[in-house]
Amino acid sequence: MSEIQPVLALTNIHKAFGGVVAIEDFSLDLHPGEIVALVGDNGAGKSTLIKIISGVYKPTSGEICLSGETSQFADASEAREKGIEVVYQDLALADHQPVYMNLFLGRELTKPPFGLLDKARMRRETQELVDELDVRIPSASSTIRDLSGGQRQGIAIARATHWASKLVLLDEPTAALGVAETAKVEELVLSLKKKNLAILIISHSLDQVFRLSDRICVLRRGKQIGVRKTADTDKNEIVSMITGVA
Ligand SMILES: Nc1ncnc2c1ncn2[C@@H]1O[C@H](COP(=O)(O)OP(=O)(O)O)[C@@H](O)[C@H]1O
Ligand SMILES: [Mg+2]
Repeated sequence: MSEIQPVLALTNIHKAFGGVVAIEDFSLDLHPGEIVALVGDNGAGKSTLIKIISGVYKPTSGEICLSGETSQFADASEAREKGIEVVYQDLALADHQPVYMNLFLGRELTKPPFGLLDKARMRRETQELVDELDVRIPSASSTIRDLSGGQRQGIAIARATHWASKLVLLDEPTAALGVAETAKVEELVLSLKKKNLAILIISHSLDQVFRLSDRICVLRRGKQIGVRKTADTDKNEIVSMITGVA
């Protein structure tokens, strides 16, 4: 039986900023319907790695394969076109815009013959999506700045769900959220998994990592310390891999 092709295969990725080595010889495969948690202390290189996968940074060396094809993204929008979506901790939404415009940011629907924005259709599709995901907001026309942090992160994940065809990257998506909001975001992350997307999530909460992930990848000062199946490890082992203290 042939092995299922990984959605993403990173091989010997290396990234330096001037003299600072941020990522050193990193290799990892991500599979459909799998959640991999990326953990490590501040400065370990986690965000840099997500930026490399999402086309924000180019690796100094190494190979990125998306569904078996070697890829070099010119920028983040090319990575998006190829089915990779990112959810950031700092709620990267357009504050003064309604929810539906955020959902379709850069991919606005228009109608003939003049190419005017098809606001009615964007509103309708947004409403269907938030209903389906049970993201509770007053309406698809609500302005982002009037929503809570949890509602905004719900919108950010709904957007990723809607557009990602392969991979969703989440960089500490619950760092700014309370307990109930975090639970809702975790539910949304699990719904991405049910859609058979590959998911890479950075989190500082080991409880969250153990609740959500299938595998855990540990970085320390740019070095890949190891990858464990979540079911085969425990917090003590992961903490000592993160800190280097046995
Ligand atoms: N744009 C940049 N220019 C220079 N150094 C950077 C840049 N981005 C990250 N770094 C450095 O790379 C290392 C890893 O950073 P980062 O990926 O943000 O870590 P983490 O997300 O794990 O906290 C740090 O030493 C950081 O200072
Ligand atoms: Mg970071």
